[in-house]
Amino acid sequence: MSNIENTKVNPKLPLSKRFKNSQPYGAPVLDLELKLNTNENPYPLPAEVKAEILEELSQKLDAVNRYPDRLQVEARTALAKYLYEITNVAISPTQVWAANGSNEIINQILLAFHDPGEIALGFEPSYSMHKIISEAVGYRYQAVPRGDDFSIDFEKALSVIKRDNPRIIFITTPNNPTGTSTSLGDIEKILQVATQSVLIVDEAYGEFSTEPSAICLIEKYPNLIVSRTMSKAFAFAGARIGYAVAQLETLAALGLARLPYHLSTQSQVLAKVALGNYQLLQGQVQKIIKSRKFLMQQLRELGLTVIESDANFFLFGEFTSSQHAWQALVDESILVRDVAIAGFLRITVGTEQESHLFIERLKGLLNNKIILK
Ligand SMILES: Cc1ncc(COP(=O)(O)O)c(C=O)c1O
Repeated sequence: MSNIENTKVNPKLPLSKRFKNSQPYGAPVLDLELKLNTNENPYPLPAEVKAEILEELSQKLDAVNRYPDRLQVEARTALAKYLYEITNVAISPTQVWAANGSNEIINQILLAFHDPGEIALGFEPSYSMHKIISEAVGYRYQAVPRGDDFSIDFEKALSVIKRDNPRIIFITTPNNPTGTSTSLGDIEKILQVATQSVLIVDEAYGEFSTEPSAICLIEKYPNLIVSRTMSKAFAFAGARIGYAVAQLETLAALGLARLPYHLSTQSQVLAKVALGNYQLLQGQVQKIIKSRKFLMQQLRELGLTVIESDANFFLFGEFTSSQHAWQALVDESILVRDVAIAGFLRITVGTEQESHLFIERLKGLLNNKIILK
């Protein structure tokens, strides 16, 4: 069926040059039995959290003829309290700012600090939306390749930063799609050199990692913004709630770039109630970490290479052809992600039952030499 994603723009319209060679972003949508391709949390929202949300929403709907709280006071207060619980860093609600997913946070940061011709720099492979949003806003995007083990090559990074003085630098930790983390010490190495840049530390998968959050550094560095999301650890991908943590005078720039009333009343209620129940939801995170370890071990026993990961996904291979391996899995009703890293595929950790089914079917494909290592 024709839709906005598969239809060419009317060539008579003056489409921005930035989009002349663009494709809409999105993983392939196939209706398969095991959906292990978009790094979602596989567990549904606990019934008691759902009931509390409905109760609070029904009260808030009495005032839905009014615009939402532009300053999101209740949601930001709940975020600051949660961040204190998990990091032990005293964060004031004024140092937190929420939006419709961390993609919108990144968009607001990029808009706020943009001038024509400026560079946004990322360490690749990484989350492809960083480049897409940067170019849509008008930056020149510069990719600095990661090393063979997917870590950042700091010697190279620091010399490129000194030479090109990028306006924006992205560090994703744990990194998507590789699952590898960057330590706080290494983040500080960049901050000490990149004093003219805004450093976005994207911690979308922070809750799955054992590395401390870069939130510990915000007091020291006005040019650091930590971007996080409720999409993954809170099983809230459909709720669209992401947030930035930074000094108040830094976040004030996002206040200039945001659309008026961008975060709806219902999003603010959902965030507040879920954050109030964070311990319950974090139980799911522990289950996912346990499943990740189990799945990695099983794949190693099948003779596959697995890249260590601090997230709810990991890379596995090495296949003679990742496209062929991807298709063979699709034929078994399993959807994983081909992230264009030769020989490897990325799998999102699902439920225990999904992990068992995945291993069983993959074993069949390897034994029958349908997938070749
Ligand atoms: C590294 C990274 N950052 C940000 C996002 C965007 O998350 P959301 O907009 O759902 O908060 C994702 C989503 O997959 C991601 O992988």
